Amino acid sequence: MSKGIYIIGTDTEVGKTMVSAGLMHLLLAEKHPSAYFKPVASGAVVINGVTEAIDAVFVRTASGFIEEGKNITPFVFKNEMAPHLASRLEQMPIDVGLIKDRLQYLKGCYEWIIAEGAGGLAVPLNDEGYMQYDLIRELGFSCLLVARAGLGTINHTLLTINFARSAGLKIKGIIINSSTQSQLERDNVETIAKLASVSAIITLPALTGVDTEKGQIGNLKEVFKKSIVIDEIMAMMDTI
Ligand SMILES: Nc1ncnc2c1ncn2[C@@H]1O[C@H](COP(=O)(O)OP(=O)(O)OP(=O)(O)O)[C@@H](O)[C@H]1O
Ligand SMILES: [Mg+2]
Repeated sequence: MSKGIYIIGTDTEVGKTMVSAGLMHLLLAEKHPSAYFKPVASGAVVINGVTEAIDAVFVRTASGFIEEGKNITPFVFKNEMAPHLASRLEQMPIDVGLIKDRLQYLKGCYEWIIAEGAGGLAVPLNDEGYMQYDLIRELGFSCLLVARAGLGTINHTLLTINFARSAGLKIKGIIINSSTQSQLERDNVETIAKLASVSAIITLPALTGVDTEKGQIGNLKEVFKKSIVIDEIMAMMDTI
């Protein structure tokens, strides 16, 4: 039996990979058998002749998680584009059955699964209107939402939460990323807490020296150890 959570974002580039990597680091540091899963990834690098998703390389660098690429990233597109477009251009249709098979494999080997979405929630995965939220629902995950800290985040966060709920998804918590704790940002957290009915809101400070594209983890391990109680995240995970 495995438990998991899907790391979703209010937008692309909000810090989903950074959060996934930090959580994987904390889980593996405590020897919890854990896997990272990014079923649809846009953006790849070639390492020793093997094409790998940039996000998976970063998670491996930060946490030491090693698993065959076909299992953690069943669909990797070279083009850093919306998945439906990359899929069309690279003539590689996203096969949900294959994604389910790979997840089934991971569930057979690991107790905890940290899955990461591609971009935001309303992201088409093909030209027929199959959406990222359809995939998350079909795979049976609840979600942890990563949001920006500053101006505009109340709107983006509430829109995403209401949209997720109308799509049948559960939001178990919110991570407010790169928080400076300014008056505006503290009010953002309070306002989101009041209006979103999500009890677990965690703020994460800005890291130094981190770049997910370049595989630089900076002070990620130290900041996650100080800012995140991994038991709290594990308690959010539902059986998948
Ligand atoms: N708390 C933070 N402090 C400093 N830099 C950060 C922080 N969170 C994210 N970043 C930086 O912001 C950029 C985007 O983060 P990340 O790659 O995690 O976003 P993402 O939501 O996974 O994007 P995508 O939709 O492309 O998967 C990265 O270069 C990352 O290093
Ligand atoms: Mg990412």
